[in-house]
Amino acid sequence: MIVEKNRFPLSEPRLREKPSPFAEISPEAYGLFQTFLLRTCGIRLGDNKRYLVTNRLAGVCQNRGIQSLDELVGKLNNGSLNQSIVTEIIDAMTTNETFWFRDAAQFRELKNVVLPELSKTRFSTPRIWSAGCSSGQEPYSISISVDEFNRENVPNGLPDPQIIGTDLSESILNRARNAIFSDLELSRGLNDESRSRYFRACHGGWKLDPKISSRVHFQPFNLQKSFAVLGQFEIIFCRNVLIYFSDELKRDILIRMAGSLKPGGYLFLSSTETIPSGLGHFELVKGCSVRYFRKT
Ligand SMILES: C[S@@+](CC[C@H](N)C(=O)[O-])C[C@H]1O[C@@H](n2cnc3c(N)ncnc32)[C@H](O)[C@@H]1O
Repeated sequence: MIVEKNRFPLSEPRLREKPSPFAEISPEAYGLFQTFLLRTCGIRLGDNKRYLVTNRLAGVCQNRGIQSLDELVGKLNNGSLNQSIVTEIIDAMTTNETFWFRDAAQFRELKNVVLPELSKTRFSTPRIWSAGCSSGQEPYSISISVDEFNRENVPNGLPDPQIIGTDLSESILNRARNAIFSDLELSRGLNDESRSRYFRACHGGWKLDPKISSRVHFQPFNLQKSFAVLGQFEIIFCRNVLIYFSDELKRDILIRMAGSLKPGGYLFLSSTETIPSGLGHFELVKGCSVRYFRKT
């Protein structure tokens, strides 16, 4: 489709332009879309988020030759969209904001307290889960922390851990697997030393050292599903993900995460999240400028 830019000179009243059909969604279609997103992803979309839906789905309609958001939602609702469009819709609706060493105090605690403890008490391969890992900065920051810990603790480092990064969005996982980041992405949270130690310039940006990236395995996974297939972990990071879910789903996921942690295992939520009172299964650990949770 050829889009005619600047069809009207600036001096002409803009009222003559027809409003885009993608700027509108009827209350009925919006309600159906809220239900779809809650059922398939667990994501709770408030009544005041219409602008988000219109912004994010306009591109899907245009790419797929669908005339309006109501038509898109109608097709979604009657099951007549093929899976690739449904995946594109879900990808468009997930919020993938992330950066290196987000909540830096947590990574300091990981390196200075949790990894030393693990290195003393565990003899098998430690397993760490980054749940809702987005484009990979979180599990890769964990892998860099392990590398730093091992370099500083020769010969008493940690056996090479297995780090699993999971996310609902397939397209974001493909980006994570590439392990290539832009200048802007590198500028968010990485210090100069880590940047020069762990990245090499490549076509399209900066490639993460395979020594760091090869420890991380990415897997599409919806947190609404049973965790049994993932196995048991020493540490789980689940940060800035549960905030999108209902209280009921949040509790359910936290209880199941306790079941996926080995005895004494650790859970890191973001610094603004906490375990709901009365949930049980976890005790609060107060570290150095950081709070996290140990399985009881
Ligand atoms: C804001 S990002 C957080 C990334 C990273 N954990 C961090 O704190 O920087 C939230 C991620 O959760 C993922 N997500 C949302 N709903 C999910 C679900 N039901 N199952 C798995 N991942 C989900 C999104 O695709 C997104 O990449």
